[in-house]
Amino acid sequence: MTAVSDTSAPVPEPLHCAALAADLDAADFRSEPLRRLWGEDADDALGRGMREPILRAIAGDEGVLATLGRLFVLGMPQPSHLVEAAVPRLGVAGLAALGLAEVSAETVVPTALLRPQSFVDADGVGEWWIASDLDEVALGTALPADHVLGVGGASRTLAEIILPIEVDRALDLGTGCGIQALLVARYAGTVIATDISARALAYAEINARINGVSNITFRQGSMFEPVEGEAFDLVVSNPPFVITPRGDGVPEYEYRDGGLIGDALVEQFIRDVPAYLTPGGVAQLLGNWESRNGASGLDRLSSWVRDDLDLWVIQREELTPLGYAELWIRDGGTTPRDAAFTPLLTAWLDDFAERGVTSIGFGYVLLRRRPVDGSPLRRIETVSQPVSGVGVALRNGLAAHDLLSSGLPVTLVTAADVTEARHLLPGDDDPSVIELRQGGGFARTLSVDPALAAFVGACDGELTVMQIAAALADLFEVPFADLWADLEPRIRSLVFDGFLAPAAS
Ligand SMILES: C[S@@+](CC[C@H](N)C(=O)[O-])C[C@H]1O[C@@H](n2cnc3c(N)ncnc32)[C@H](O)[C@@H]1O
Repeated sequence: MTAVSDTSAPVPEPLHCAALAADLDAADFRSEPLRRLWGEDADDALGRGMREPILRAIAGDEGVLATLGRLFVLGMPQPSHLVEAAVPRLGVAGLAALGLAEVSAETVVPTALLRPQSFVDADGVGEWWIASDLDEVALGTALPADHVLGVGGASRTLAEIILPIEVDRALDLGTGCGIQALLVARYAGTVIATDISARALAYAEINARINGVSNITFRQGSMFEPVEGEAFDLVVSNPPFVITPRGDGVPEYEYRDGGLIGDALVEQFIRDVPAYLTPGGVAQLLGNWESRNGASGLDRLSSWVRDDLDLWVIQREELTPLGYAELWIRDGGTTPRDAAFTPLLTAWLDDFAERGVTSIGFGYVLLRRRPVDGSPLRRIETVSQPVSGVGVALRNGLAAHDLLSSGLPVTLVTAADVTEARHLLPGDDDPSVIELRQGGGFARTLSVDPALAAFVGACDGELTVMQIAAALADLFEVPFADLWADLEPRIRSLVFDGFLAPAAS
């Protein structure tokens, strides 16, 4: 059985969307029930591109959940009578009217995937249903150029780093299936979701409707065109940042390739976005940046940012041109066993060589229109360890930066996730290395000297910063001014990084 590739747009008709949502709800079409149905192993295998383990686990099961699982999680045709029983309110005709399937008397052939997608935010665990185009596994072929992506690794990365802050107006630029707009809509009065692709917007609108989200407006257009003259408190974007050589035979996937040379799309976004931010407004995006002829990617990126903006860049990894080319050629479904692989690799490597590209960085960029009277923030760092709860860590970092601009808090407390590790040479009484470690957020590890370790250890929210510093000067028998000059900048860093927080007054 092969699924049908359909490049026509789905149709977000409100009543059909409501009926579908009621059917999915009644079927308990959610992550956990599906995982229980076919087992964890099979569920994990699907994430690695294998659907056979799920098919084996539910072979012969004609129940509602198994039918919907095969139809929409795997994207496989199902007998019409079983689908009719699984979506009784909508009916198979309604599925066809929504553009999610092609229907005949015997068979319903999906033209889209529809999967439960769980998420965690400040309010706890939730779940969406997300419709998107059939993936490579369901299509059995490489993706078409106008493919509308479901929730992938980059989507999850952006979702994880978005500041959990309440805002009036938010923009999701390049919304695709709408996952970021749905998340932001939980904290925003209004969200504008834009995309160059009408098909993507149709999916995003279906997804908003079936999830009962009504504060998102959808607009078609390139980059900032659809919001000309408007300003937002929060702009989020997982833009089509993938660097792609321009030439015959190189596919231009709308979902990942903005059609410009090198990292020009990320540069254009970073240069243009300030005009669309309210004072204090924040933009967050994922991106790639090229190191060229000795100019580091991070330096090039920071040169694109005006001085009146705050900038916090976190580079997560850096790839060689070869590693980058291989990653994205494989992502398009071409492997070294395919004849197309070598010409594509040549095109990518030639493109990088022509522009003197020596490496490509990937990471997150946060820009803020600096609040009135705010002190400048320009932090550019590489963080390669596993991270969690980054959105909260970024929000707290910005708040700490603002707080520190009016001086150190009088009293500090050590954050609950901080531990200290002491490393001693065998037989020694004194540690040769003391490390402070963060359990969450950026999970930073810092080497500290005994004075700073003692300072952090004494931050219990009772003693003031000055009382602790004075006691340490006595203990280490050093002049207070010398100790303070040495400690103060490092205490500020610990507050910014969330090792220390102001004590509740
Ligand atoms: C990587 S996908 C991100 C989708 C979704 N926001 C997510 O996080 O999963 C990039 C999206 O940008 C859209 N896009 C491509 N070129 C664009 C442009 N010039 N202006 C606006 N959107 C564009 C694509 O259609 C696609 O939906």
